[in-house]
Amino acid sequence: MNLEQFKQDVLTGLSQNPKQLPSKYFYDKRGDELFVQIMNMPEYYLTRAEMEIFQQQSYEIISSFNIQKGEEIEVVELGAGDGTKTIHLLFELIRFRVTFKYIPIDISSNALNGLEHRMKEEIPNLSINTLQGDYFQMLNDLKKSPNRKIILFLGSNIGNMSDEQAKSFIASLSQNLNPGDKLVLGVDLIKEKEIVLPAYNDAAGITRDFNLNLLERINRELKANFDLAHFVHDPEYTESEGIAKSFLKSTKRQVVKIESIEKSFVFEENERIHTEISRKYNDQILANIIGKSPLEVQDCFTDQKSLFGDYIINRV
Ligand SMILES: C[S@@+](CC[C@H](N)C(=O)[O-])C[C@H]1O[C@@H](n2cnc3c(N)ncnc32)[C@H](O)[C@@H]1O
Repeated sequence: MNLEQFKQDVLTGLSQNPKQLPSKYFYDKRGDELFVQIMNMPEYYLTRAEMEIFQQQSYEIISSFNIQKGEEIEVVELGAGDGTKTIHLLFELIRFRVTFKYIPIDISSNALNGLEHRMKEEIPNLSINTLQGDYFQMLNDLKKSPNRKIILFLGSNIGNMSDEQAKSFIASLSQNLNPGDKLVLGVDLIKEKEIVLPAYNDAAGITRDFNLNLLERINRELKANFDLAHFVHDPEYTESEGIAKSFLKSTKRQVVKIESIEKSFVFEENERIHTEISRKYNDQILANIIGKSPLEVQDCFTDQKSLFGDYIINRV
């Protein structure tokens, strides 16, 4: 993690009106642990639904890659996390006797170390090359190897981007792919508030702790004095818009000092910091995000309840 970048992003985000903080900073050691707990919560249908897709349809997903006999491929995973769904795909590639290298990219070195350890335990002969960093900045490296690429971008990771960010990310990703490369894009599908909102506001308070952990991280790493007793987790979801948003709301007027950037910030009573968006998708929204990029949707695999979708996208 680049501390100077963290300082700059916190300064920029808290100087804006309304205030905001980038969600990628959720994932320190504690954030990684909390996210694993989130994935196991009864309310967090996303992981279970996508897991069902990978457990039951990995054969069909791999068939859609159109892998030729003797071809060597690279499976590049952006924001790999703990890789619990990916492993089903890797097992299936092995069953297909495909020669491949697995390249997980994650901003969290903690997540990558755990992932590498677990993957090597489960698949001792796996050819794995972990890359730590921000995937926004690592797309250029993709073109370096001549082998065909399967890019995995799972877990509704793209949902954490605004539509503008997602468009430019997809455009830049497509520029760094070669014709025939594939993108597996896991997205949460638009559905009613009664199902979506509890996933971001669970009864046990894990999503609350995950959100507040961002302030604890700033306190610890940037020497700040956020008083966690006076900020509350405040999520919302509008079905017509299809975007869940998480905020941290100040319960009183207060001043917070961040020593390492020599700045103080005033928070009014009920003022919110926007910390995360979780965009939900359908075919039209995806078509808009792809825009004029040289990509075409080839297929979409969903779970039985159609809660989640893994789109197979072809670089034309
Ligand atoms: C929501 S988790 C999803 C993990 C996994 N893809 C899954 O489906 O279970 C997001 C992961 O992406 C990583 N991440 C978030 N923003 C990132 C960025 N800008 N660059 C690289 N990794 C990032 C986090 O560290 C975390 O491991």
